[in-house]
Amino acid sequence: MANRRPKISIIGAGFVGSTCAHWAASKELGDVVLIDINGDAAKGKALDLFEASPVEGFDSRLTGGSDYSLTAGSDVVVITAGLPRKPGMSRDDLLATNAKIVKECARNVAQHSPNAVLIIVSNPLDAMCHVALEASGFPRERVLGMAGVLDGARFRSFIAMECDVSVEDVQAFVFGGHGDTMVPMPRYVSVGGVPLTQMLSKERIDALVDRTRKGGLEIVELLKTGSAYYAPAASTIQMVEAIVRDKKRVLPCAVLLKGEYGVDNLFVGVLAKLGAKGLEGVPVLELNAEEKDMFGKSTAAVKGLVDDMKRLGLN
Ligand code: LAC
Repeated sequence: MANRRPKISIIGAGFVGSTCAHWAASKELGDVVLIDINGDAAKGKALDLFEASPVEGFDSRLTGGSDYSLTAGSDVVVITAGLPRKPGMSRDDLLATNAKIVKECARNVAQHSPNAVLIIVSNPLDAMCHVALEASGFPRERVLGMAGVLDGARFRSFIAMECDVSVEDVQAFVFGGHGDTMVPMPRYVSVGGVPLTQMLSKERIDALVDRTRKGGLEIVELLKTGSAYYAPAASTIQMVEAIVRDKKRVLPCAVLLKGEYGVDNLFVGVLAKLGAKGLEGVPVLELNAEEKDMFGKSTAAVKGLVDDMKRLGLN
């Protein structure tokens, strides 16, 4: 009986973290550890969720607290810790505060789980991936950022609503940084195999692209006290599933590019193959002139943030 369940740790037991625990446990992806500076809240949420398991019928041990030793030997660690956006704030406004938090978390995680794959969710996402890479000392294969699955899911939702079709039949992805410059890729959208460009006018597509870019803000403005969590958590868990089940899924994620797309040493959203080793490949897509231009602007925005962090001594 050498086999054991995968161990998934989630750092930050706020709305995103606890919803990640919920999806991960209900899909029986493994045993789940919730960590938070408020250890009792993490412990309470883990226990509450475990007490739902006899009713819902899932086998997943859930534990929680503030002590990173609970996370020892994790296969995957999700970092959600940090402040969320409030109305009037951009993701970039969170830079200084969240850089300190993510640095501390990544250091602790690496100490207790030196072989884990890290998935970063804290904002500003692409910059926080750089912080985690540096603080953990992990190779790029084991530091990934969650943004593209979420932005793609929003794009897919809006397309499904507009075309009045099942969300399951809409395939779409988004490139670039997780910010206002993100690059939804309408040329590659398929609605049950039919290219979107054959279904909708350019004007309608542009409106859906714009709504996608502002998708996070739309939720922040409605919630008023924080940012989205159901779709961010579901998107994170799709990445966790690809890793713990070694699915070799091709999903849009933030990865450290090393020359792909002409970008070097920068985290930015592209298509990535995810399996047991974490990042297992970057299939490179040919971009047309317009896509190249938008992708270039987006990588420049991410680079600006990373340079700011260096200037402020945050990284
Ligand atoms: C969003 C935040 C989590 O896009 O970045 O909802």
